Amino acid sequence: MRCRVLRFSIPVSTLVLGLGLAAYAQEPDLKDFKTNLAPTVGSPERAIDKMLEMANPKPGEMLYDLGCGDGRILIAAAERYKVKGVGIEISKRLAETAAENVKKHRLQDDITIIHGNFMKTDLSPANVVTLYLATTANDTLRPNLERYLHPSTRVVSYDYPIPGWKPIETSETEGHHGAVHTIYLYEVPNSIKK
Ligand SMILES: C[S@@+](CC[C@H](N)C(=O)[O-])C[C@H]1O[C@@H](n2cnc3c(N)ncnc32)[C@H](O)[C@@H]1O
Repeated sequence: MRCRVLRFSIPVSTLVLGLGLAAYAQEPDLKDFKTNLAPTVGSPERAIDKMLEMANPKPGEMLYDLGCGDGRILIAAAERYKVKGVGIEISKRLAETAAENVKKHRLQDDITIIHGNFMKTDLSPANVVTLYLATTANDTLRPNLERYLHPSTRVVSYDYPIPGWKPIETSETEGHHGAVHTIYLYEVPNSIKK
């Protein structure tokens, strides 16, 4: 797949798995603002290391980073674990930055960046989902995770739990300012059926 910034409003699964590669026109930012569920802070390197270690992606698996920022998790996962990646990012600026970063790392065949809303995304191709959002955002997203994800899909969330789900593992890591942050690993369906 080529790494291009795709426009939202069209079902993402159709674009990724079918038409795949069209580029779309710009949209106003106001809609982005209303649907933005998390601040734009990238995960620290050590948190990414730990998130990926916990999710343990296998070569060829599909990792979705929901709110991918500058693409750093996708790039680390593709380089170190040989996974395919899809990043959904509501900020046009960040989606473009992520696409540029993917290109710099020559990972265009492995990573697709979509400028869009992860709440409107079919997540069913994912084997691993990474999140760094907020607890309320995770709560809003949870019905979609339960709707789309297949058994044995791992969901790893930095800093914020998914309300109503039970982690199969947690780990602590140092954040940007030295504070300790928790990483939560979930697995479908074991984390859903408590
Ligand atoms: C805390 S940042 C995490 C970035 C990246 N995942 C990382 O860990 O480095 C959260 C990102 O989610 C994006 N975001 C928030 N709501 C979104 C939505 N509804 N759809 C897609 N992206 C969203 C924000 O623009 C932001 O870049």
